[in-house]
Formats: sequence, C-alpha cells, structure tokens
Amino acid sequence: MSALLEVKNLNVYYKENRSRRQVLHDVSFTVEEGEILGLVGESGCGKTTLSRAILGINKDIDGQIILKDERPRMVFQDPAASLNPARSIGWILEEPLRNAGVDKATRRKLAEEMLCRVGLNETYYHRKPRELSGGQRQRVGIGAAIIGNPKFVIADEPVSALDVTIQAEILKLLVELKNDLGLSYLFISHDMDVVWQICDRVMVMKDGEVVEYGTRDEVFDHPRHPYTKKLLAASE
Ligand SMILES: Nc1ncnc2c1ncn2[C@@H]1O[C@H](COP(=O)(O)OP(=O)(O)OP(=O)(O)O)[C@@H](O)[C@H]1O
Ligand SMILES: [Mg+2]
Repeated sequence: MSALLEVKNLNVYYKENRSRRQVLHDVSFTVEEGEILGLVGESGCGKTTLSRAILGINKDIDGQIILKDERPRMVFQDPAASLNPARSIGWILEEPLRNAGVDKATRRKLAEEMLCRVGLNETYYHRKPRELSGGQRQRVGIGAAIIGNPKFVIADEPVSALDVTIQAEILKLLVELKNDLGLSYLFISHDMDVVWQICDRVMVMKDGEVVEYGTRDEVFDHPRHPYTKKLLAASE
C-alpha cells in the first residue's frame, strides 16, 4: 500500500469577527490506495472543515497536505440540496466533463454509462432532481463525483439523510465502485455501525483533534480514548 493522501500536522483556522479561530489542531493521517478511512466525531468537531482543507477550499491552513490526485471529489450528505434543481440529471452528471472541455456527444455517452453504473438507466437523463427519490438522487450525486475519474473521494455523511434500507443499497454501491474503479475514500459518518460495515481504518476526532486512529478492528475491539468508548457504547 502507498499513501494517496498524506496529511501532516494540519492546523485550520477560520476568521471570526476580527480574530482567527483555530478549528483543527495538529491533524495527521494517511489514506492508502484502495482503502476506506472512516472519520467519526460529534457535530462541529471539524470533519467538513478537514474535507474542505483537503480539497483546497479552506485556505487558511498550515501543515502539509500531499494528495496524489488532481481531481479529488466530494459526495454530500443531502443530495436534494447538492444537486441543482433547475438542471436535468444529464446536465448535472456532465458538469465536470463540460468543465474539462469534453465534447457533447462523448459527454452524453459517458453520462448514460454513469447512470447505469450507479444503478439507474438512460431514462433518467432528462429528469430533474425533484423527480427522483432520495436514494436515486444520491446515486446521481455519486455519479457526478466519479464521472471525472477521481482517485480520491470524500463522502461527507453520504447516507445519513436516507432510510436504513436505502442506506444499505448506497453503501453497497460505494463499495462496489471503490473496488471496480480502484477508488479510495475518506468516509465521514456519525454512525459507528456504518463505519464498521465498510471502513478499513477509522479516525475519531474530538474538538478538532484526532483522539483515535487505527484499523477498524483495533478501534472497535480496543478503543483507547474515553470518547471512542462512549461512541461505541452508544451504538450498541
Ligand atoms: N465557514 C466557516 N466560518 C467560520 N466557522 C466555521 C465555518 N465552517 C464551520 N465553522 C465552524 O468550525 C467548526 C467545525 O465545523 P465543521 O462544519 O467542520 O463540523 P463538522 O464536524 O463537519 O460537523 P457536522 O457533523 O455537524 O457536519 C464549528 O465550530 C463551526 O461552527
Ligand atoms: Mg460536516
């Protein structure tokens, strides 16, 4: 295995009124090729902040982020909010291709292929997001994330807005795509059951710091930090 993403001693700051507030403190970890690293932690601990720093959106940072992928992408929690309601599914899927200058006919072909790949079909091409169920919308969100051939994908609570049965389908799809396309994920979740189901390694954050980091079995069988123990007890 080799590291696709290496984060070293990362600090991230936000401007607050006239001062600068540090949100992430000395965060270090790797995501290896082909693995799913789960990221767990309470609301406000800095999970999305970390994602945005990795993608280069949060710029007030110090430390090192070494990512061997020029096209990392993100899958969002709420597909209803993240898909442009005014555009067709085809248009949404083609957006990264359009930005990359891919011609119209090729875009259409790739979008239709992607619809099948994520478990939909070509008939969805002309539909609008509101004409899809939550699970179908998340399939489109995933398709839009991977259509530009990223190697690294950040999935920020990708199933927490969905019913439990639909959650299982989407998790299965994410794992299949990872295996078929050789992707690696940073998978953000507050649900320890979901993390156990699909993650190879797990990182727990609290108040902007990493408090636990290890293989899934290490973390679940021998948690070290009281906060991890609390999370595990709550999910039993
Ligand atoms: N753009 C911003 N400007 C200033 N502060 C922010 C900004 N975005 C987030 N924060 C603050 O940074 C902290 C971390 O927020 P973040 O969104 O990373 O948390 P999170 O772990 O993703 O939470 P959740 O599980 O609710 O999504 C919070 O205190 C939040 O209020
Ligand atoms: Mg968040």
